[in-house]
Amino acid sequence: MANVAVVGTQWGDEGKGKVVDWLSARADVVVRFQGGHNAGHTLVIGGETYKLSLLPSSVVRRGKIGILGNGVVIDVWAFLQEVSEMQARGLHIAPDNLCIAEGAHLILPVHAELDRLREAMRGASKIGTTGRGIGPAYEDKVARRGIRAADLATPDLLARKIGDLLLHHNALRRGLEEKEASASDLLERLLKIAPEILPFVGPAWRTLNAARREGKRLLFEGAQGAALDVDHGTYPFVTSSNALAAQAALGSGVGLGAIDYALGITKSYATRVGEGPFPTEQRNATGRTLGERGDEFGTVTGRKRRCGWFDAVMVRQAAEVGGLDGIALTKLDVLDGMERLSVCVGYEVGGRRLDYLPAAAADQQAARPIYETMEGWSSSTRGARSWSDLPAAAVKYVRYIEELIGAPVVMLSTSPERDDTIVMRDPFQD
Ligand code: IMP
Repeated sequence: MANVAVVGTQWGDEGKGKVVDWLSARADVVVRFQGGHNAGHTLVIGGETYKLSLLPSSVVRRGKIGILGNGVVIDVWAFLQEVSEMQARGLHIAPDNLCIAEGAHLILPVHAELDRLREAMRGASKIGTTGRGIGPAYEDKVARRGIRAADLATPDLLARKIGDLLLHHNALRRGLEEKEASASDLLERLLKIAPEILPFVGPAWRTLNAARREGKRLLFEGAQGAALDVDHGTYPFVTSSNALAAQAALGSGVGLGAIDYALGITKSYATRVGEGPFPTEQRNATGRTLGERGDEFGTVTGRKRRCGWFDAVMVRQAAEVGGLDGIALTKLDVLDGMERLSVCVGYEVGGRRLDYLPAAAADQQAARPIYETMEGWSSSTRGARSWSDLPAAAVKYVRYIEELIGAPVVMLSTSPERDDTIVMRDPFQD
C-alpha cells in the first residue's frame, strides 16, 4: 500500500487542488504539512467550486480524515471562518474528521501586522507576500517563542508565553513606530476562541501512525511549490517553509519510510504571484493570453499572476532536489491554439550557459532563458480523457517535457473538472 505526497514543482498554483482531490478519493487520510492560509486550493466537484486555503482537501469528501500537521501555521480565526463557510455549504467538519496537531504553531494578529508592515517598509524590494503572517509566525517558531495549538489548554502558561512573545514584538513595533500590542487583549482573544479550537487539537502524529498500521492510505497535501521552498527556491523571494516532499514526514510526524511516492504537480507553462526572479516571464501578448486563458488570478489575494513559458530547467531541478517519482501535468488545454510553444532548456548567466538555476540572487535575476521552440496544436485538448483524444503535437509536447525534466508524466489534467484527467499510473498503486 503506497502513501503519496503531492507537491508543487514551480511557484505554486500548479493545480494541486484538483489532483489532490482526485487522489483523495483513494485516500483515507489527507494531511497538510507546511504553510498555512497563504495557500489556495480550488476543487471543482460536480460543477460546485470549493476554494480551500487552510483546510485539507479531505473536507469535501465524506468519510475521510483531515490533518493539519505540526509543520502548518494556523491562524485560528481564519480556521474557524473557513470551517463555518464550508459547513454552511453542507460539508461535515468536526473533531471526528479533522485534527490539528498539538505542536502546530499559531499565526497571531501581530504576525500578519508585522508581515504587512515589513512589506510596506521594503517598498520596491518587497517579497510580495500574501500578508497573512506566515513568515513572522515561522520566525517565532524557530526562535522558540511561538505559541502552539496545545498552549490554548493552559491559560497560565499561555499568558506567560504571550508575555515573552510580545517582549520581542513590541520592541520591533516601537522601532517601526507602530502601537504596541496588548498582552491582555491577545490573551483574552485566544482564551475566547480556545473552546472552539481545542476539540480539534490532538496528537496528530499518533493518529497518522495508527492509520498507517491499519493499512490506511495517507495523502500528504503540499502547498506552494519547489521554487518557493525556503531552502531550494528563489530565496529570498520564497515562502518561509519547506515545500518539498521530504517535509511531509517532518511536518506531520511520520518517518521517511511513510512516503512511498512523491508526485510533483507541474503546470504546462509557468506562473508566479509576487515578486522575484522569473526567467521565462512573458510581459507581452503571450503572457496576457496565458493569463486570460488560464484564469491566472491568485486564489488567496486575487492578484494577477505573472505568466511565461514552461521552464524545464527549473522543474528538473525541483524533481531532483525533491526526489520526485512522477509528475502530474496540468492545464495543457490552456496552450490550445497557440501557434508555437517555447520551452526553456538552459540559462545564460554572465556569458556562461547553465543547465541549472544558481543560488545567488544576482545570478537568478540575471539568468536569461535559452529556448527550444516547437509547433503548437490547433484542436482542443480540453476535457480529453485518453491519449488518443490528444492531437499529435500535444503528445509530442508532453513527451518532450518529460524527457527534459527526467521524471515520468503519470497524470495529465485537461480541465478543472475532476474526471478530465488522463491517468497513466495511479500513484497509490505504485
Ligand atoms: P508568504 O507565503 O505569504 O510569506 O509569501 C511569500 C511568497 O510566496 C510570495 O511570493 C507569495 O505570493 C508566494 N505564495 C505563498 N503562498 C502561495 C501559494 O499558495 N501559491 C502561490 N504563491 C504563493
